[in-house]
Amino acid sequence: MSRLLEGKVAAVTGASSGIGRAIALSFAAEGARVALSDITTEPKEGGEQTLDLVRQAGGDGMYTRVDVSLWADVDAWIGDIVREFGRLDVIVNNAATYSGTALVETTSAQWEEVMGVNMTGMFNGCKRAVQQMLTQEPVAESRGRIINLGSQQGIVTSPRDTAYGVSKAGAIYITRQIAVDYAKDLIICNSISPGKVVTGKPGLPMDPALMENARRRTPWPRLGRPQDIANAAVFLASDRATFITGSNLVVDGGWLAG
Ligand SMILES: NC(=O)c1ccc[n+]([C@@H]2O[C@H](COP(=O)([O-])OP(=O)(O)OC[C@H]3O[C@@H](n4cnc5c(N)ncnc54)[C@H](O)[C@@H]3O)[C@@H](O)[C@H]2O)c1
Repeated sequence: MSRLLEGKVAAVTGASSGIGRAIALSFAAEGARVALSDITTEPKEGGEQTLDLVRQAGGDGMYTRVDVSLWADVDAWIGDIVREFGRLDVIVNNAATYSGTALVETTSAQWEEVMGVNMTGMFNGCKRAVQQMLTQEPVAESRGRIINLGSQQGIVTSPRDTAYGVSKAGAIYITRQIAVDYAKDLIICNSISPGKVVTGKPGLPMDPALMENARRRTPWPRLGRPQDIANAAVFLASDRATFITGSNLVVDGGWLAG
């Protein structure tokens, strides 16, 4: 069976851990050359570095240290990808952080950090990718595809995590805006909104109230796995998803349906 992303060049931010790591590994397994970026190469959950796993599986990739909140980092990274691989077919804006605080407890520094990574980081990734995609000839009807990580908590409220929830609502909004503004240029832009996906360091005590809330709200009899989100990302990155743009694909085990 032919691989879904054969020959595509795909960039993933926050690719060292969790969902970004699963997306990068799945893209490589589907035949994409993957450009990974993060502020560290160490997976939060432990194990081998993502690029090593890509190469061990016979894939082709590169890693660049990129702080997505800095335009200069993102600008240089996309330039390097195009020099190395010739074009940019897909970018996944996945890197994110959170403060875990309600409004009154959120300091200005925390607000700015979350907005810097989650919102400015997404703006930087989208803008630089669109700049590049506009210069490319269409392949299979598209000049390029953008996938932004939203969250179910950008749609319903995020318990005691104001800046995070606002940033994820922004991720879903900027997705629609780009989809509409650049549809005539054949640039496709969608978001994925995961429900609760178990990521991070195994054994690290998770906030019991948040975990209890997640289990109660998720009708499917387990919480999400990074691979659940990677499967959705492979579809949206592939030529199977061309007339789909501006959409927000919810992958949440039924959380929002309840
Ligand atoms: N895990 C969930 O339950 C869940 C639910 C909804 C949405 N999401 C979204 O999915 C995405 C991935 O979540 P995750 O759980 O895998 O997170 P994670 O914390 O496990 O991984 C995030 C990665 O981003 C990197 N990163 C942080 N700041 C960065 C920066 N300034 N520049 C570049 N990279 C940076 C981290 O080093 C890390 O490797 C995020 O956008 C998150 O908001 C996750």
